[in-house]
Amino acid sequence: MKQHAITLLSLAIILAVLPAHGQNTPPAYADASRDIEERVEDALSRLTLEEKVALCHGQSMFSVRGVPRLGIPGLWMSDGPHGVRAEIRWDSFEHAGWTNDTCTAFPALTALAATFNPGMAYLYGKAIGEEARFREKDVLLGPGVNIYRTPLNGRNFEYTGEDPFLSSVMVVPYVRGVQENGVAACVKHFALNNQETNRSSIDTRVSDRTLREIYLPAFRAAVVEGGAWAIMGAYNRYAGEFCCHNERLLQQVLKDEWGFDGAVISDWGGTHDTREAAMKGLDIEMGTRLPFTAYYLADSLLAAALRGEIDERWIDDKARRVLRLIARTSMNPGRPWGNLATAAHEEVARRVAEESIVLLKNAGGILPLDLDRVKRVAVIGENATRVLTTGGGSSELKARREVSPLEGLRALLGERVEIVHATGYSSGAPDYGRVLPPPRDADSSRREAIALAATADVVLFFGGLNKNHRQDCEGADRLEYNLPFGQDRLIEELLAVNKRVVVVLLSGNAVAMPWLERAPAVVQAWYLGSEAGNAIASVLSGAVNPSGKLPFTFPARLEDNAAHAGGVAAYPGEGGTVTYLEGILVGYRWHDTRRVKPLFPFGHGLSYTTFAYGKVSTDKKTYARDEVIRATLSLRNTGKTGGAEVVQLYASLPSSRVPRAAKELKAFAKVMLEAGETRDVTLEIPASRLAYWDEETDAWTVEPGEYLLQAGSSSRDIRQRARVTIR
Ligand code: BGC
Repeated sequence: MKQHAITLLSLAIILAVLPAHGQNTPPAYADASRDIEERVEDALSRLTLEEKVALCHGQSMFSVRGVPRLGIPGLWMSDGPHGVRAEIRWDSFEHAGWTNDTCTAFPALTALAATFNPGMAYLYGKAIGEEARFREKDVLLGPGVNIYRTPLNGRNFEYTGEDPFLSSVMVVPYVRGVQENGVAACVKHFALNNQETNRSSIDTRVSDRTLREIYLPAFRAAVVEGGAWAIMGAYNRYAGEFCCHNERLLQQVLKDEWGFDGAVISDWGGTHDTREAAMKGLDIEMGTRLPFTAYYLADSLLAAALRGEIDERWIDDKARRVLRLIARTSMNPGRPWGNLATAAHEEVARRVAEESIVLLKNAGGILPLDLDRVKRVAVIGENATRVLTTGGGSSELKARREVSPLEGLRALLGERVEIVHATGYSSGAPDYGRVLPPPRDADSSRREAIALAATADVVLFFGGLNKNHRQDCEGADRLEYNLPFGQDRLIEELLAVNKRVVVVLLSGNAVAMPWLERAPAVVQAWYLGSEAGNAIASVLSGAVNPSGKLPFTFPARLEDNAAHAGGVAAYPGEGGTVTYLEGILVGYRWHDTRRVKPLFPFGHGLSYTTFAYGKVSTDKKTYARDEVIRATLSLRNTGKTGGAEVVQLYASLPSSRVPRAAKELKAFAKVMLEAGETRDVTLEIPASRLAYWDEETDAWTVEPGEYLLQAGSSSRDIRQRARVTIR
């Protein structure tokens, strides 16, 4: 009986301390089992005006506050786009000095583009997203898809080359891979940020057709196909308005036309006015000015709203978008945990690097190195040992490790050959915005390099650009098309003492090559990140057969490039305006249509094997505008070693009623074949992809007529042709 009473008593106590039924169910906004829009609307309905405004601007260099009162977490952001940047201080751009923030440095986006392999873009996106997630970042500030217009642009290395179709195909899997981690990709810089000179004020004049056909497609693909959750506005202006509050770009095209439901984030300091920013498409203002409350979308937005000058529905729209971004990322309990600087990520970095290296020239089969004959290798050049993941601006990285070319060569070949090294030239330390003087006397290091070269069986010269100010670096453009730091002279001098010089260029940009005829081999090896040296050594030794293709044209002379053919008005602009006089004829479109011979064409890249292209056949001869053209050809590896070829399919309409490019890339496939193997390759082109932007109707138009399809190994190495008719 006594026992029974005690049991009843404890039951009563338990019931008294337990909350009433239902009190444990989370509010709708925090209930992840509910539809995301329901959660967003519920959250929005509970916010004060002050809390909504707080969602529209940074609270620190790289974060947005969230709503602490309701337990709604904020957003933490990081650069992007080649790795997750070191932790930055709350209120300055200095490193926070953490010791747990070293990352995997992935190859720069030019390198990723050069793989012509969307599968690699997915692996890259997934891996970098995992690193961002582990570092507790919700928004990764990348990828960058501004079109390569001039080889002087200091930020080209952060982008995916000159072709809108290639960029579109590569950006979609990158975005998906990142976002599978519950981390938003913030695609940048929207739009027309194609030069660093006067980037924060220059007004870009470009025709609608050029905008639609060249500069917007990769952004559209990222949003419409990739489902990007965030977009970063650019610093520059377009049609007189700053891109961070540009009604046409942000409101009309991005949000209304493409149906973008994510958040537009300003570039850091790219916002210039409260009213404009409030009503012309910007959602989150980020920057560097202090205090953060003085931002255009902070206290002054609140004041304007309280005075009734800005309707609260504008602020609701922004808050809704930011809450949606939060629900997708920081308030998404289902997202994985991520991981950082793992062997698996370095493996991804290495695979991308190996597939990206472009063999530009290989006369007399000097590559791969014949290890039965090569006993002494002279490795010359500063880039053989230079750290290339630091510097460059906001894409700088604190890599867990970075294997230099010299280290990679020593690791792979060190036991079989003697490797000697001299820098030969010197550029000064990387320092964003400044160049420190070279540490050594230039003449003596040149002489040392030449002496070593004279005694070697082969010379591997590692040069190119670097991440210094006015090289491949944010904030300013290059000053010259030639190689800097006396490298042209040094290469000539090396060739004078040893004909067997392999020039390996590490850069994100094209350079002039006055020594090209005399140099037997040239390799374009980009900025390859953590695994750079291992990937380069594998390609030079033949352990890996190169399969990269150029994602942009190398003009012979700077004035041969379309932007430079137009004089200063077209680059870098005058009177605050830059006019894209070349219109749609960017990159190879210009070279091919105007018949200007490039040094190396878009899509070019050699292999240690050879491929034969069979005839192109199409599944039909005539197609309706909503049909898909299927073009098939047989590809045969005719050499002695396995390798991959990128089959490229270009289209044109010779009878078009509007000016069109002589060639436009419309499909490609990377195909791996063993020696002697043959395979049928089918490429698909939806007829809609043949459209041009009609300025009269403001719409994409597929012209009827007979189209020429050209299949080739580069934009200038066309192997087969076919014709199809669109009704
Ligand atoms: C760059 C952006 C970058 C941001 C944050 C800006 O200067 O243009 O690309 O994401 O800084 O570091």
